[in-house]
Amino acid sequence: MGKLIAVTGKGGVGKTVVAALMIRHLREHASGPILAIDADPDANLGTVLGVSIPTTLGDVREDTLKQVSKLPAGMDKAAYIEAGLHETIVETPKIDFLAMGRSEGPGCYCYVNNLLRKFADDLFPSYQWLVMDSEAGMEHLSRRTASKVDHLVVVVNESPLSIDCARRIGEVISSVKNEPRHKYILLNGVTEDRIEAVREKADCLDGAYLGYIPRDEAVEEKIFRGESLYGLDDSGAALKMKQVMKKLGA
Ligand SMILES: Nc1ncnc2c1ncn2[C@@H]1O[C@H](COP(=O)(O)OP(=O)(O)O)[C@@H](O)[C@H]1O
Ligand SMILES: [Mg+2]
Repeated sequence: MGKLIAVTGKGGVGKTVVAALMIRHLREHASGPILAIDADPDANLGTVLGVSIPTTLGDVREDTLKQVSKLPAGMDKAAYIEAGLHETIVETPKIDFLAMGRSEGPGCYCYVNNLLRKFADDLFPSYQWLVMDSEAGMEHLSRRTASKVDHLVVVVNESPLSIDCARRIGEVISSVKNEPRHKYILLNGVTEDRIEAVREKADCLDGAYLGYIPRDEAVEEKIFRGESLYGLDDSGAALKMKQVMKKLGA
C-alpha cells in the first residue's frame, strides 16, 4: 500500500485547505494514483477542489439497511452492497475521491461495516498516496484506520483552543493500539510575527514540527469565488506546502 496521510485538528483550523493543498501538490508531482478521502461528515474537500461527490459510504450504509430486507430472492446481498460502494468512488484524472459521509445512526451496522472495511482494505493498496481530511473528533481514525496512517498531521492555528484540541487528539491517538507511524504538528494561517509564539505553545504537543502554511489571500479568494484550489499558482501557501510534502517524502 502507498502512504496514507491523515489531516486532523480543531474545526475551522484549515484541515480541508491543508488536505486540498497536499492533493494539489501530489497531483502535479507524484507519479502514481492518488485517493482523496473526505472523512468529515460535513464533507467539503471535493468542493474546494471543484469535484462533486454525489454519494458517500454513509449513504450506502443507510440505503443498505433499508433495502437489504427487500432484495429479491436470489440476489446476493454482498454483491448489492459492493455495487453501491463502487459508485461512491469519483474518478478524475490521477485522483479518485471517496467521501465517508455521516457516521452511524441507530441500527445494526455490523454486517455492512464489515463489508465497508473489506472494501477499504481491497481499495487502498491500489493507490500510491492517500490523503484523508478527517473530522475533529477523530471517530474514523481512532480504531482500525490509525494503524494504517503513515503520517498523522495535526493542524493548529493561532487560537489556543486549537492547541487544546491537538492535545486531546494526541491523547486519543496514544490510546489506540497501533499508533500512526509519524506524528506531526502543522501551523496554518498563522501571521508571520506570531509563528515563534505558536511554535512554542505547540512544543508541548505529541508530534514533530512539520512547518507552517501562511494565511494566503489567493486561497481565501478562490474559496470565496467557489473556484478550485488546483488553480492556485506556486506561491504563498502552495509553495510552503511543497516544502511540507518534501518532508513527508512526496
Ligand atoms: N492558509 C490559509 N490561507 C487563507 N485562508 C485559509 C487558510 N486556511 C484556511 N483558510 C480559511 O479558513 C476557512 C476554514 O478552513 P477549512 O480548511 O475549511 O477548515 P476545517 O476543514 O479545519 O474546518 C477556509 O474556508 C478559508 O477561507
Ligand atoms: Mg473541513
